[in-house]
Amino acid sequence: MKSAVLQYREFTEALNNLSGTLINVFAPAAREKSEMAMARRAMLLLLVLIPMAMVDYALGVVKKEVLRSSVCTSIECPAYDVLYQEEEFSVRLYNGTVWMATSAIEDTSFYEATRVGFLKLFQYIQGANEEGAAVNMTAPVLTGVIPSDGPFCKSSFKVRFFVPTIYQGSPPTPISSLELEVEEWGARYFAVRTFGGFAKDTNVAEEGAALAESVYEAGMELSSSAGDESYYVAQYNSPFEITGRVNEILLPISYPSLLKVRKSS
Ligand SMILES: *[C@@H]1O[C@H](CO)[C@@H](O)[C@H](O)[C@H]1NC(C)=O
Ligand SMILES: *[C@@H]1O[C@H](CO)[C@@H](O)[C@H](O)[C@H]1NC(C)=O
Repeated sequence: MKSAVLQYREFTEALNNLSGTLINVFAPAAREKSEMAMARRAMLLLLVLIPMAMVDYALGVVKKEVLRSSVCTSIECPAYDVLYQEEEFSVRLYNGTVWMATSAIEDTSFYEATRVGFLKLFQYIQGANEEGAAVNMTAPVLTGVIPSDGPFCKSSFKVRFFVPTIYQGSPPTPISSLELEVEEWGARYFAVRTFGGFAKDTNVAEEGAALAESVYEAGMELSSSAGDESYYVAQYNSPFEITGRVNEILLPISYPSLLKVRKSS
């Protein structure tokens, strides 16, 4: 008769052997299963990403102007006249516009500064004003940029909300901790280039450089009279809209140089 101790040792050995076998039997299957799950996840991601990329590509072709207009039929946008149009960009005249602007935000990132500024403006329209008024959302959210002198220095940003027409005479007064102020702009001429997707530091720099080149090639000059900000980024969609997004880079243009180009063409 085997001793209890021996029985116990056999049992644990058997268990060890068994679990060893189990591991050998099931490990490849488990690996395969998780590989399949990963492949399925990648496939799903592709199924989402490919149409998004196709939509964005198609938009490049059919002009994102349609999208901008569709945003501006549901919420108010500032009116403008198009004074010049070519493949790569257009020139717009904005007559007087009224904006609610943040104080200067120093940051190395356009994306981060815009997020910080937008949160303040969002609080303002949600009722963080002395009248406690809920102000309708408008488009675009406009970030003005004073670029830094070097790649690692902070730039200066002001983020703006277009004040709805009914409030332009007397916008609700922002609560002081938000450090917002009303800006009344006279007529301004902007060269405008449209792009899709989310506006990030990388694509904003690329699109801005492309616009500057087009403006230069067209023989127009940048304006130095529109304040210190050398360019603006306009975003028309809420952060929750993933597809069909539309953004613009705006460069202030000197009107005399625009007139020269228009006369000679
Ligand atoms: C801007 O002002 C000009 C001159 O007064 C006028 O002809 C034009 O219609 C105005 N444009 C808009 C969009 O209000
Ligand atoms: C705000 O927007 C809603 C929906 O578009 C509209 O019905 C309403 O008249 C707007 N309110 C003001 C004060 O403009």
